[in-house]
Amino acid sequence: MGSLVHIEKLSFRYLESKQWTLSEIELEVKEGEIIILAGPSGCGKSTLLRCMNGLIPHMYPGDYQGSVTIDGIQVREEPMGILAQKVGLLFQNPENQIFMFSVERDIAFGPENLALPRQEIRSRVDETMRLLGIEPLAQRAPHELSDGQKQRVALAGVIAMRPKLVILDEPTSLLDPKTASELVSLIQDLNTRLGITFVVVEHRLDLLTKLATRMVVMNEGRKVLDGKPSEVLSNERVGAYGIVVPSATRLYSELAKEGVKLARVPLAPSELTEQLRRIRR
Ligand SMILES: Nc1ncnc2c1ncn2[C@@H]1O[C@H](COP(=O)(O)OP(=O)(O)OP(=O)(O)O)[C@@H](O)[C@H]1O
Ligand SMILES: [Mg+2]
Repeated sequence: MGSLVHIEKLSFRYLESKQWTLSEIELEVKEGEIIILAGPSGCGKSTLLRCMNGLIPHMYPGDYQGSVTIDGIQVREEPMGILAQKVGLLFQNPENQIFMFSVERDIAFGPENLALPRQEIRSRVDETMRLLGIEPLAQRAPHELSDGQKQRVALAGVIAMRPKLVILDEPTSLLDPKTASELVSLIQDLNTRLGITFVVVEHRLDLLTKLATRMVVMNEGRKVLDGKPSEVLSNERVGAYGIVVPSATRLYSELAKEGVKLARVPLAPSELTEQLRRIRR
C-alpha cells in the first residue's frame, strides 16, 4: 500500500504562544491503516490532527516549519476546499458539526458545496446513510437525536465527502460503552469496505487496539513511541506518558518479570487466557 500521509520535520507554534506545540514530528501513514494517537493532555494531539486537515496553518496562524503531505498534496499550499475532499475530521463534540433541519440535508451539505450533480449528491447521501445504518433517521432533526446518533450523523457528513483519510478526535468520549463499541465496529467496517484510513485520538484503548495497525504516542510536542499496539503497550516507557495500558497487557509484563514468557503480547483478556491455557498444556 502507498503512503497517504507524509509528515516531515513538522514544528508548529501558535501565534500567541512562546512554546512550540509540535517539535520535529516525523510520521508516515500508509493507505488502509488505522492509527491510534495517544499521549498526555496538552501534548499536541489535536494540534497534529489540525495539521493533517489543514486547519493549521489555514485557520490557526503561527510559525510553521517542515511539511505535511496528504495523498501527494502539500497541506500548506492547498485551500481547505480541496483538502476537505481528502481528509475528514470528526470533532469530539458532534454538535459542532451538525446544523441542518434534517439528517439527510445535513449529510448533503458537504457534497453540495462541491457543486456535484444532483444525482451524484443523492446517491452519495443514500449510500452513506445505508453504510452507517442511519436511513431510519433521514427525516429527523439532528438536534433531537441521541449522542450516539449525532455522532453517526456527523461521521456520515464526513464520509459523504468520500475522503481517503478520516481523523477522529476522541470520538467516544461522550458515548456510553455500548455505543462506543458500535462506533469502533463502524470504523472497522468503513476501513474494510471503503478502504478509508483512520487516525484516531482515543483514550479507551481496550476498544481500539484490536483493530489498530499502529499506535503513536506523543509527549510534549514530540513523537516518542511508534509501532504496533502490542509493541508500544508492552514498552516499559509507555506508563511514563500517562497511557492506561489494558490490564491483559499489564499482566503480560508482570508475568514476564516473573519469568513467564508468553509467545504474543495480549491486548485483551481473551488473548491472555488463550496463551495461559497453552502454557498449562
Ligand atoms: N488555539 C490555540 N492557541 C494557542 N495555544 C493552543 C491552541 N490550541 C492548543 N494550544 C496549546 O497547544 C498545546 C497542545 O494542545 P492540544 O490541544 O493539541 O493538546 P492535546 O494533546 O489534544 O490535549 P487533550 O488531550 O487535552 O485534548 C497546549 O499547551 C495548548 O494550550
Ligand atoms: Mg485534544
